[in-house]
Amino acid sequence: MNVFGVDIGGSGIKGAPVDLERGDVAEERFKVLTPHPATPEAVTDCVQQVVRHFGLPVGPVGVTYPGVVVNGTTRTAANISKHWIGQDAAGLLTERLGTPVTVLNDADAAGLAEMAFGAGRGRTGTVVVLTFGTGIGSAVFSGGRLVPNTELGHLELQGHDAETRASTRAKETEDLSWSRWAKRVGRYLAHVEMLLSPELFVIGGGVSRKAEKFLPLIEGVSAEIVPARLENNAGIVGAAMAASAAGPGPAAAP
Ligand code: BGC
Repeated sequence: MNVFGVDIGGSGIKGAPVDLERGDVAEERFKVLTPHPATPEAVTDCVQQVVRHFGLPVGPVGVTYPGVVVNGTTRTAANISKHWIGQDAAGLLTERLGTPVTVLNDADAAGLAEMAFGAGRGRTGTVVVLTFGTGIGSAVFSGGRLVPNTELGHLELQGHDAETRASTRAKETEDLSWSRWAKRVGRYLAHVEMLLSPELFVIGGGVSRKAEKFLPLIEGVSAEIVPARLENNAGIVGAAMAASAAGPGPAAAP
């Protein structure tokens, strides 16, 4: 049975069948550009295109979403069309693809993959996985179990929504140097540490490939901080893991 993972991102919608034993894509992933506006209808078309590309018999499909997802319903839409708010996303996609679809938060998916196959493997204490990109996504684990939809990217930091100050988009739009950005990330991590006292922070998102440029500059945090390991495919792998865990019946978030 082919379990698929599809990752809905700000620039691309990417997917592949996933090898759940190895925690990696089983074939090279296929990507289509994210439509603008990224309405439920337009995104559903893209997800279908991505899955059909592989021409395989399709088993369960996991799909990541960049917002809160409760029992398959998308509840927030910080960086995507507001038409998603209140949508039965899992129902919509299940009907369109004709196979059970599990929908979960994008950072939760990346976190599941990092805990099983990447930087969080074997860690049983509190682990906070943060993805830095257009926004800041979070996945919190304790005893290896995910607490879904934690949304730590929207903590208030010095009077601002933290992701508007410390995401990689903020770094780009404000043209911040690595050291100025690292200072903001450090302040943000210290705030999260004050609330949750994790033993480990895993830093994901595209920027994790440049970890050597900013991790050494982060100050004021006691927890260990490491870059994510599965960077490119973490969302796809985690989505497939969630779909596989949901099984062949009607699907919901983990
Ligand atoms: C959303 C999160 C999401 C993160 C990364 C935030 O704006 O609220 O749900 O995980 O962006 O996409």
